[in-house]
Amino acid sequence: MSAPNIETIVSLSKRRGFVFPASDIYGGLGSSWDYGQLGVELANNIKRSWWNWLVYERDDIEGLDSSIIQNRLVWKYSGHEDTFSDPLVDCRDCNARLRLDKLDVDPTDGKAMCSNCGSKNLTEPRDFNLMFRTTVGAASADDDPAALAYLRPETAQGIFINFKNVLDTSRRKLPFGIAQIGKAFRNEVTPGNFIFRTREFEQMELEYFCRADDAPALFDSLLDEYQKWLEGLGISSENFYRYEVPKKDLAHYSARTVDLMYRFFPERKETGGDEWDEIMGIANRTDFDLKSHSKKPEGADGKRINPDSTEDLSYFDPTTNERFYPYVIEPSVGVNRTFLAVMMDAYTEKTNDKGEVRVILKLKPELAPIKVAVLPLAKNNESIVSLAKKLKHELQPVMRTVYDDTGGIGKLYARQDEIGTPFCVTVDHESLEDNAVTIRDRDTWEQERVSVDSLQAYLSGRLRKSTV
Ligand code: GAP
Repeated sequence: MSAPNIETIVSLSKRRGFVFPASDIYGGLGSSWDYGQLGVELANNIKRSWWNWLVYERDDIEGLDSSIIQNRLVWKYSGHEDTFSDPLVDCRDCNARLRLDKLDVDPTDGKAMCSNCGSKNLTEPRDFNLMFRTTVGAASADDDPAALAYLRPETAQGIFINFKNVLDTSRRKLPFGIAQIGKAFRNEVTPGNFIFRTREFEQMELEYFCRADDAPALFDSLLDEYQKWLEGLGISSENFYRYEVPKKDLAHYSARTVDLMYRFFPERKETGGDEWDEIMGIANRTDFDLKSHSKKPEGADGKRINPDSTEDLSYFDPTTNERFYPYVIEPSVGVNRTFLAVMMDAYTEKTNDKGEVRVILKLKPELAPIKVAVLPLAKNNESIVSLAKKLKHELQPVMRTVYDDTGGIGKLYARQDEIGTPFCVTVDHESLEDNAVTIRDRDTWEQERVSVDSLQAYLSGRLRKSTV
């Protein structure tokens, strides 16, 4: 079957409890979404996979959880106060507010055209800073500018300002990385496409500190490793391509950026549009951030580059007696976009022998919100129900298990297929005689009889085998 479009995933998400529109009972809040009972599990499983892979399985990465609201000076010296903005224009004909850098340009005169009505009658662009402003304490920012603060637009800065804390307390030597997962906020001008672009989202960011000479090779190897990790989550390699960001479009801190693009919009192909958009980016941030946040004198004239910082974030190498600012390779991946790509790649349809089309969400077992569903074949038979409930309670400390008796067996299987549960365990009349149950595989619909005594070991083995 052809790749599903985002609308198919929106519909499944709402129907089954993955993602709901936020503030819905009050009419919603443009492009805000809440993660439901299954969505929170899938998102947590993605984050756990990333954290295990980097922080637990490698030897060179520490974790961190820094504050969302930091001193405003963090955003002054990171460059975000001055440069973290989009160029905005208004259409004088239809009043739409638009991002100039996202508009089509008429090749005959080089003028941008309104994406809403096609007019070229647009206002001059003006910069709109994307950081959400707030105030700290009882003062208002108008009365007391010192009260002004921002919600972080990236988690990365929390890592840079803690570089020395982690270095000193962990006794690390270069190269090493610091990983962080957390919410980030951007007052996006044109949010949309479900959870693809929202104003509140979650990032998994790694800042990998190294010597300048090692940065180019580390850039390439981390990019390969990240793509492999994403493929391990079940995303097909065919749905990725790498976009080398041209020099003129690089962020102020970057010497090189590659965006890993995913085929989020397959339906656009038919109309000649762009199927691809960014799932993650990797940047060589050089020594920009550590230097910017350092009090140390810089340059031949010895002028301080930062009169406000109390720290020098340089690194001392005792083996060479050198002091320098490490370079940073930063792979940054969105939880929400990974979630969407995982759902899109896992979505399949299959026709059963009655000719009915069934949705099967072929999530990797590691990511599946529920690993096992225990289903009684006859919900009025007390012995069957009590055995099914007993099995559910035995399994659930080891693997997330649910019990469901709210429909006929065909309906119960279909429901579990649609939410990606790898195995259903059915307790039937025979189970009371032979102390065995039927295990049904989500992807093949094949069934196997397994003894109750070996059920947990059997399921653990099957789940492990298919784990990424
Ligand atoms: N620290 C670098 C940084 O923040 P970015 O390319 O702006 O780089 C990294 O963001 C990732 O965060 C993106 O690749 C995307 O997955 C996610 N992301 C960024 N803005 C987003 C938004 N408005 N909604 C959802 N995800 C977003």
